[in-house]
Amino acid sequence: MSQPFYITTPIYYVNDVPHIGHSYTTLACDVLARYKRARGFEVFFLTGTDEHGQKVEKAALAQGETPLQLADRVMMRFQNLWEKLGITHDDFIRTSQERHKAGVQALFKQLLDQGDIYLGEYEDWYCTPCETFWTETQLMNGNCPDCGRATDKLKEESYFFRMSRYQEPLLAHIEAHPDFIQPPSRRNEILSFIKEGLRDLSISRTSFSWGIPVPGNEKHVIYVWFDALSNYITALGYPGDHKGHYTRFWPADVHVIGKDILRFHTIYWPTFLMAAGIPLPKKVFAHGWWTVEGKKMSKSLRNVVEPNRLIDQYGVDAIRYFLLREVPFGLDGDFSHSALVHRINSDLANDLGNLVSRSSAMVNKYFGGLLPAAGDASDIDAAFVRCFAETLPKIDSHCNDLAFSKALQAIWELVTKANKYIDESQPWVLAKQEGQRSRLGTVLYNLMEGVRLAALLVAPFMPDTGRRMLAVVGQDPEDVTLVGKDGWGILTPGTRIEKAAPLFPRIEEETKAGK
Ligand code: MSP
Repeated sequence: MSQPFYITTPIYYVNDVPHIGHSYTTLACDVLARYKRARGFEVFFLTGTDEHGQKVEKAALAQGETPLQLADRVMMRFQNLWEKLGITHDDFIRTSQERHKAGVQALFKQLLDQGDIYLGEYEDWYCTPCETFWTETQLMNGNCPDCGRATDKLKEESYFFRMSRYQEPLLAHIEAHPDFIQPPSRRNEILSFIKEGLRDLSISRTSFSWGIPVPGNEKHVIYVWFDALSNYITALGYPGDHKGHYTRFWPADVHVIGKDILRFHTIYWPTFLMAAGIPLPKKVFAHGWWTVEGKKMSKSLRNVVEPNRLIDQYGVDAIRYFLLREVPFGLDGDFSHSALVHRINSDLANDLGNLVSRSSAMVNKYFGGLLPAAGDASDIDAAFVRCFAETLPKIDSHCNDLAFSKALQAIWELVTKANKYIDESQPWVLAKQEGQRSRLGTVLYNLMEGVRLAALLVAPFMPDTGRRMLAVVGQDPEDVTLVGKDGWGILTPGTRIEKAAPLFPRIEEETKAGK
């Protein structure tokens, strides 16, 4: 039986419409999900929407809707975008669903019954946009230390979670599992935060009603982060075991998140789980943030990058490639139209596109479109084949480390090698020489094998491009598995090779500014 692999995105707030930042997190998860499937894993890939809380209630009110109407509408925008981006999630959870509510209440009740949640009174500074309480000393000039906006003093009866009780076990867990928080800079940030001391956490609200009621005390709704984080297990059927998913997939292999929600995922969530006696996720990976043309993306600056428009303009694969190639996963990055156009023209149209069209055209020109067998070989042929064998394990480890940019760089080293191999072996010269037919066959066979392997390697990143490249080399475009297909010599001589149309048209100057 294949090995399970459970990967999650954060669930997205429905008071904002999807933009490039949300697409980034989801896309990264999709690439890993596709890659793991290609490697034979049984993948469960979860995404969804975070629909409760005061922010959503306020946004709905402002638009004259009920919170659920707002959630229904915005949730569709996320689902439509995921379809357009080629996202292959296995489930989509909404926190307004019954299956989720029941799971959250069960978790809350267990912690309440065992004394890890207690009723108390709260007085502190609350930042509504961040849904976070701050102490007087944490404020920056009276404002929220995270977003800089004004905070309100709130005093209310509240349930508390005994987070302080789990400070030492959490520290011990993080120390013992170096992989738990990635990248390492984030791990250090969290370790020093915990060492400053964990306070008990207010875990319910009475100031609004759009949320999941506390079991047995309906005046309170459960704090939105307790509610939201639980999605990772309620989607599997917790406290039950929907289709055996909980048993099979928990603990998650990786929660992929943005750096802004690291504390919730590496302090709140693990301590809730520890208290409930549930195993912790194996890894939480926090990626960086995108700015746009050097500026923070914001509605007021009107510079929010709308993914639908970008996809219409440049094509989905180009966007998928750009986002994961341009910036090392984990670091912040800047989105600019000129950088995007540069990547499309140089990496996609030039390097990859030329390789596929030049090599397939030569099989058509010299062998009537039928793949020749490999025959006589020289040192440069052997070196070319060896290069693939040496690079594949590196790409595998980069993908497993979520180092997507490094993985793409390594794939492009192969593409560049292949283009160089054409220049060095000069098939057009071999074609004119007596007695070089067998060697010419070797070069073209090797190139087509190179294209086949490159197709499988790019497929998780650029699914449509992978399909088109597989069709060129006469393979089933839908079969993107690497299991048993990552060796050399899979193509059968005699296979019909298509004369490939250009994979990526060059983007001309006038569209460069993204007009
Ligand atoms: N609802 C919470 C998550 C709950 S998970 C149990 C939430 N939602 S969000 O919609 O505000 O953000 C979701 C994700 O989008 C986060 O991972 C966040 O980092 C990411 N991004 C939002 N803007 C971004 C950029 N400008 N750049 C990169 N990612 C960004 O937080």
